[in-house]
Amino acid sequence: MSSRRLIAMLPLLMIACSSGGSGAPSGASSGKPSAQSKEDAALAAAKSAAGKLGTETRTKLVDALNNGGPANAVTVCSAEAQAIAERVAKETGASVGRSSLKLRNVKDAPPGWVQTWLVAQGDKKADQTQGIEGVFDSPVGRVARFLKPIGIDGTCLSCHGDPDSISEPVKTVLASKYPEDKATGYKAGDLRGALWAEVPVGR
Ligand code: HEC
Repeated sequence: MSSRRLIAMLPLLMIACSSGGSGAPSGASSGKPSAQSKEDAALAAAKSAAGKLGTETRTKLVDALNNGGPANAVTVCSAEAQAIAERVAKETGASVGRSSLKLRNVKDAPPGWVQTWLVAQGDKKADQTQGIEGVFDSPVGRVARFLKPIGIDGTCLSCHGDPDSISEPVKTVLASKYPEDKATGYKAGDLRGALWAEVPVGR
């Protein structure tokens, strides 16, 4: 395990998971959960599901990079990223995913509200963007939504950077698994996409 790398990431993850706290649940003393506390619970569940997907995906990536470099990691990511997302969705009951306007895997296509956010960011750098955290009306009723911008850092460039700088073994895997790959050409600091989750507010 690459625990040192993980620990280095922790502050980031904690910021991501603790920003804009939703306050103490109200209505706890009445015995019956209030509308507000149901919304708080759904929002907490959405944040937790997104946090779990982000952490598990990144842990898998960093581990694989430390054990065989990008050529190994690209194979591991392509074999496991979807399975991780499906498992986290199943375990948490949330709709959850990683999306982008420049997709590598078309299965990561964003739902409408995530697409709208991505388009609205234009050419902004990742650190100029603000995520989403709140409860909204949707066609299926009230839903809690959490969205965290995903930025590109040095770790990402071996598979998402300038095509000329991507090694041949990585290119070979990408070309065979993702003939429609749009997810290269990024620079450190760019907005890569969004980590998102949605949970219906309990009725
Ligand atoms: C070792 C190669 C590799 C590295 C390094 C890498 N990725 Fe990826 N990335 C992939 C592969 C492969 C996929 C497609 C996974 C799949 O099929 O579900 C992917 C998919 C994604 C997706 C999902 C959206 C899409 O286009 O399908 C996001 C978001 C993402 N990567 C962000 C990052 C970020 C941010 C970093 C740096 C922290 C990073 N990646 C580093 C290989 C890599």
